[in-house]
Amino acid sequence: MRARGRIVSLAPATIVPGAALSGTFTPPGDKSITHRAWMHALLAEGPTRVSGANRGADCEGTLHAVRRLGVRVSGPPDAPVLEGRALALDDPGGAIDCGNSGTTLRLLAGILATQHFRSELTGDDSLRRRPVARIVAPLRAMGATVSARDGDRLPPLEIHGANLVGVDWTLSEASAQVATAVLFAALGARGRTTVMVPGPARDHTERMLGAAGIELAIEPLAGAGRRVALRGPARPHGLDIEVPGDPSAAAFFLAAAAATPGSRVTARNVGLNPTRSGFLEVLERMGARVERANVRLRAGEALGDVTVTGPDALTACAIDGDLVPRLVDEIPAWAVAASAARGTSRVSGAAELRHKESDRLAMLGRNLAALGLDVREHPDGLEITGGEVRGGDVVTAYDHRIAMAFAVLGARARGPVRIDDTASIATSYPEFFATFAALGGHVETL
Ligand code: S3P
Repeated sequence: MRARGRIVSLAPATIVPGAALSGTFTPPGDKSITHRAWMHALLAEGPTRVSGANRGADCEGTLHAVRRLGVRVSGPPDAPVLEGRALALDDPGGAIDCGNSGTTLRLLAGILATQHFRSELTGDDSLRRRPVARIVAPLRAMGATVSARDGDRLPPLEIHGANLVGVDWTLSEASAQVATAVLFAALGARGRTTVMVPGPARDHTERMLGAAGIELAIEPLAGAGRRVALRGPARPHGLDIEVPGDPSAAAFFLAAAAATPGSRVTARNVGLNPTRSGFLEVLERMGARVERANVRLRAGEALGDVTVTGPDALTACAIDGDLVPRLVDEIPAWAVAASAARGTSRVSGAAELRHKESDRLAMLGRNLAALGLDVREHPDGLEITGGEVRGGDVVTAYDHRIAMAFAVLGARARGPVRIDDTASIATSYPEFFATFAALGGHVETL
């Protein structure tokens, strides 16, 4: 468990080796879509009903913040109805603690920039080390007064909103969080805003706003990027949002199946948005069998059942360029597959991974080496040579995806893998170890 800013108790775990994970599971609701669904109530005219939400601490933190900004929530806990506030928000009267969640902080910043009260966004030790200059600059250009610690680089973020004006903004990285912050601010701004996204960052915001009646002009650009334009002020209408399962959560168990010959794992109702499905394409390229069934569309988002079967041997692969944004959160899961492949796999053009919940390139490099794998860290990537996984000690730096990756890697290790802390997993996937056990994994906790 983690209190604001510091770890108050650790949850170490030991993975008992020798389990081939197999079976069917339903992943938790998509984290990115859940954040947006809760925030939709701040933007919308009329009620929004959300089913299948992610109940991890990150998204619950967003829901808590949304309530503090004035949204009333009613209805059953598994399908709550949120009153729409159409950007007429209450002053929360104190800092909003975004915990460990960069998405909460960056997306809310765009909304708060439209409000005429002073607000402060902060978070735990890890979040207070993550970059926010990329948010400060566009919101300032639109007319908000925004400042952040350490020369406007790091949270806490202080925002005094204003009557914003539209802006033409070019992102320096293909970040859906930054694009979304600008688009949310644009809903409260006067005139046209355009956002140039230089790569295939996830497009859940555009899909949700489009489904809620906002007119967006989306122009594809060379390099799989896009330019998105909208004219403000504009208010989306309320929606009935059925959140698909999170492909980034499902990825750990699918990677485990790919890494174990003959193992077969099915993830039910998992999101198949093409800006998120790069990992499944990579598993196929590595030789795993990937089957998609029952594919359907809900509010503009595709979902279906995905089955991965582990081949006799996986083949090493290289990931770079436009593929990186389409699997940016799946690199820890990819490392599980790469560690089982014949040859050396590479990811490059992924320096952004150094700014996630931990420096993921460093944490993957260090922990894979600690388990006996041949791994090389580069400024913008990693090289991993497949091989035997010894037992050993893993440190997670309170990063949920590092903890989950090494839990499933531990299942195919030769000896026990001790993980220093698994409490972080509750930020996105509270049922992770229950599913791990249901698929045949063994974990010992203190
Ligand atoms: C997210 C976008 C991605 C991703 C993060 C969630 C989102 O970050 O890594 O986990 O919901 O918009 P960036 O936009 O910074 O790439």
